[in-house]
Amino acid sequence: MFEIKNLTITSASQKDLIKQIDLSIKPGEMLGLIGESGSGKSLTATALLGLLPSSLTIKTGSITFMNDEITSLSEKEMRQLRGKEVAFISQNYQSFFTPFIKIGKQFIEGIQSHIQIKKSEAKKLVLYWFNKVSLPAERVFNSYPHQLSGGQLQRAAIASAIMLKPKLIIADEPTTALDVLTGERILDLLKALQKELNCAVLLITHDLKHVMNRAEEIAVMYGGRIIESGRADNVCQDPAHPYTKLLFQSRLQLKKKVPDKLPAIYGEPGLTAEQGCPFALRCPYVYRVCNENPPTKKVSDHHWTACHAAVQGEVDQHVGN
Ligand SMILES: Nc1ncnc2c1ncn2[C@@H]1O[C@H](COP(=O)(O)OP(=O)(O)O)[C@@H](O)[C@H]1O
Ligand code: SF4
Ligand SMILES: [Mg+2]
Repeated sequence: MFEIKNLTITSASQKDLIKQIDLSIKPGEMLGLIGESGSGKSLTATALLGLLPSSLTIKTGSITFMNDEITSLSEKEMRQLRGKEVAFISQNYQSFFTPFIKIGKQFIEGIQSHIQIKKSEAKKLVLYWFNKVSLPAERVFNSYPHQLSGGQLQRAAIASAIMLKPKLIIADEPTTALDVLTGERILDLLKALQKELNCAVLLITHDLKHVMNRAEEIAVMYGGRIIESGRADNVCQDPAHPYTKLLFQSRLQLKKKVPDKLPAIYGEPGLTAEQGCPFALRCPYVYRVCNENPPTKKVSDHHWTACHAAVQGEVDQHVGN
């Protein structure tokens, strides 16, 4: 449905921030895009929404939505797409709402800007969706944003995203500002709505556990590149790239005996090699060839990684399970 091909995004200083990425989102599926801070997740989302700042340019590649090239749509056509076909949920739910206007009024204006509908009908729709995301509908409708908790505001933001039945919801770190339990409930809600409404979700997060058991597909980003992607089962059960493997190993598993020390990934987060494999400065292997472009290796029909060690079959040997 959404397809990114060979996308490179460059800054005003000619630095490639996103490098030749390929990504596709299938109808009705959740794609989990994971990577540490600065790896390029939000820029990818911003490009999908057609909202890149003017200082950044698309150097190569294409982004298509239902076979339409969106990089060539006018701002008016893009506005139609956003909100109606593609909805966005950010971590910053506070700035989503205008502080001095009651939430119900903001929702009604939002709906009426996209579809022709009477105020009374719009109100019914809003109350229906507030109930759907388990909010006390009438109370929330008549509240100002500051009268609701963070979790309630994020639920309201989700209601706003799904109300017009978009084909895709992009959720960029939607639980960052919430406590862990509230965050988990929000992600469960998103998953339930994805299933019920058969809408695709791009869930962006730095936390592997957010996407495990939720996403159908997983893509891992490092240093502006996708370094591994595939069906979630395949990636979770048999991660192929050293970075992905280390991510899984550095997770605390409740069912296992708690180790004295969790394996850590060498080097500073965000440390990126500009040439060749972006993970080369932190990788336990590093061949000379890694300083050139890393290869693409198909692990199976629904799983690939970009790594020389994986191609040589040496990742398990060194990193272990
Ligand atoms: N407008 C911009 N101008 C220049 N560099 C930017 C801009 N926006 C983001 N970047 C840089 O691009 C990289 C990726 O950023 P981002 O997509 O926000 O990462 P993530 O969401 O994975 O934390 C970072 O190094 C960031 O500093
Ligand atoms: S082996 Fe080479 S290509 Fe693979 S992750 Fe390490 S540095 Fe990158
Ligand atoms: Mg981000």
